[in-house]
Amino acid sequence: MMKWVLLLLALFGASPTASFTLVKSVRFSRCLRAAATDCPLPGTAKLDVDWKDLGFEFRPTKSHLKLEYKDGAWGKPELVSEPYIKLHIGATALHYGQACFEGLKAFAHEDNSVHMFRPDENAKRLKSSCERTMMPVVPPELFLEAAREVVKDNMAYVPPYGSNGAMYLRPLMFGSGPRIGLQPADEYTFLIMVLPVGDYYKDGLAPIPALVIEDYDRAAPRGVGNVKVAGNYVADLLPNMEGKKKGFPIGLYLDSSTQSTIEEFSTSNFIGINKKEKKYVTPKSSSVLPSITNKSLMDLAKDGGWKVEQREIPIKELETFEEVIACGTAVVVTPIGKVVKGDDIYNFGDGKTVGETTMELYTRMRKIQNGEEEDKFGWNVQVC
Ligand SMILES: Cc1ncc(COP(=O)(O)O)c(C=O)c1O
Repeated sequence: MMKWVLLLLALFGASPTASFTLVKSVRFSRCLRAAATDCPLPGTAKLDVDWKDLGFEFRPTKSHLKLEYKDGAWGKPELVSEPYIKLHIGATALHYGQACFEGLKAFAHEDNSVHMFRPDENAKRLKSSCERTMMPVVPPELFLEAAREVVKDNMAYVPPYGSNGAMYLRPLMFGSGPRIGLQPADEYTFLIMVLPVGDYYKDGLAPIPALVIEDYDRAAPRGVGNVKVAGNYVADLLPNMEGKKKGFPIGLYLDSSTQSTIEEFSTSNFIGINKKEKKYVTPKSSSVLPSITNKSLMDLAKDGGWKVEQREIPIKELETFEEVIACGTAVVVTPIGKVVKGDDIYNFGDGKTVGETTMELYTRMRKIQNGEEEDKFGWNVQVC
């Protein structure tokens, strides 16, 4: 019975949560195209939760994409339904952490077309991570094609327009060939896992307190902080969990050599908003990961008449910000209500309300991602 309902929904272009009454001609023609080109509609899979209640956790989908590098060349991409891999016990990823990853999202628009957000930027960042860890580069065109294919195959799992969710793509690259001495592997595996996600923070967009991590460093000035390698995240696990136990959902790192300037949060970049001077300030450092969200927000801020400064930020400058934001793909923005460093407490706003500039940047970004505002920067890459 459900199958027939879904088939009818598919034929008439409505996702389970979409309205039947507002079927626009654009949506209708899109559906005909979707049917004709064998491109299933987003939001038609049956999940264990409602689309609008999705959090940020693993959920099975139809397939992941796998691409292997052997004998000095990339093989053919495959779509694999089993969420397991068979791995050599000597794989360099397991012993020496020769592994890196990416994270990006695809969004359904009102006409049921689906678009990835700036995948070309992820392809570039993956390239720099591969180069730094001596892994073969996935050519950007191959990356884009692979991402498109896996989203297309899992189209039914793309949260429907209006659900506030997205399909999260997690490209992953690792040394799968065996080595016992410290050397790069001969064989590599590139995967793209996809899953439907909702809000990273369960309470949605609400200010949270951040703790300055004083006992540990995330990255060294000439280390690997500027690339998205697996080891950076394991280094952050203990400080992150200790901070959470103390009541801080997010940790802020300072530069490791002087402990005097702001670097970034565990998994997001730092942005300070100085409203008096209409300035958007974000750290410039060789050990910060270049965030694609930050890059996009900088463009939006400039477009909105803000002065964007990317430079060293002394910790004391926190006093000058009315709003502080943690930004990244998973969250877009997380407003920071206060930053605590030992006995020093820096408050932003009333600690409960989302700042006006944070809200404006978030709304504009989400509208572009949802296809509700003209994509004048050309960020959306259509899948289907
Ligand atoms: C350390 C770190 N900084 C910043 C970011 C935000 O980057 P992006 O906006 O590309 O997701 C991430 C997430 O990928 C991260 O892990």
